Amino acid sequence: MNKPQYQLELQDIQLSFGGLMALHEVSTGVKKGEIFSIIGPNGAGKTCLLNCINRFYHPEKGTILFENRDISHMQPHKIAGMGIARTFQNVELFAHMTVLDNIKLGAHVHLKSGFLSGGIYYGRSRAEEIALRKDIEERIIDLLEIEQIRKQVVHALPYGLQKRVELARALAMRPRVLLLDEPATGMNLEETEDMARFILDINEEWDITIILIEHDMGVVMDISDRICVLDFGEKIAEGKPEEIRHDEKVIKAYLGEEDITYSRLGA
Ligand SMILES: Nc1ncnc2c1ncn2[C@@H]1O[C@H](COP(=O)(O)OP(=O)(O)OP(=O)(O)O)[C@@H](O)[C@H]1O
Ligand SMILES: [Mg+2]
Repeated sequence: MNKPQYQLELQDIQLSFGGLMALHEVSTGVKKGEIFSIIGPNGAGKTCLLNCINRFYHPEKGTILFENRDISHMQPHKIAGMGIARTFQNVELFAHMTVLDNIKLGAHVHLKSGFLSGGIYYGRSRAEEIALRKDIEERIIDLLEIEQIRKQVVHALPYGLQKRVELARALAMRPRVLLLDEPATGMNLEETEDMARFILDINEEWDITIILIEHDMGVVMDISDRICVLDFGEKIAEGKPEEIRHDEKVIKAYLGEEDITYSRLGA
């Protein structure tokens, strides 16, 4: 049998709120191992698309396939248990808990979803599982360079670090696909560069497929394998960074934007 082309495939996704069509028959697909970015002006439907993938929103129409399996009607926690984790546009952490406890909570998705009985950990003793978890926590802390703050309470941390902790928690879910909604928003240049490096490391060293929403076009153009562009709920372009940069429709869609200008697309 042929290997499926896409690890995650969206077919004709449609979502509306009252009279507003947030997504209109959007079809796209993400290949295993890719960094796949979704861009578009404010209100284009980017977050809605992620919300459809992990079932926070229920599309009126369309199908979502993950590793050839139809996940269109699964509960959000099941989706997480299958290996699709995410971070949010506004940080969603347990603010009064420590960094380490937040990361530990990420690991619990396996227990909740019954993933433990799903085969992957089959045969492992509880002690082995605990040791494995600890090892993964340490690798995450090391990768994201958050050793110094592991015992700190999250709400006292600067925003840039909170975003890093949220990424750490998502990684603790041991995802195969990671959905990131504006991970570099509100960060200064140095923090943004760090975040871009972390995303690349996660993708390359941990072999995790990344779906990225990001307004910083420097980051998007630098690290994406492919880019999908939404405008008013419709897909207007898809391709490699070089193709997107010079796409007439994309340039036109961005002309009215304040924070992403024509020149920042580099066209
Ligand atoms: N829960 C909701 N109820 C009503 N309208 C919504 C809801 N969620 C999203 N929308 C609307 O759907 C459209 C797409 O929103 P979405 O959040 O996906 O945009 P976005 O591309 O992520 O924008 P931004 O770059 O500002 O984050 C917007 O018009 C938004 O107001
Ligand atoms: Mg959004």
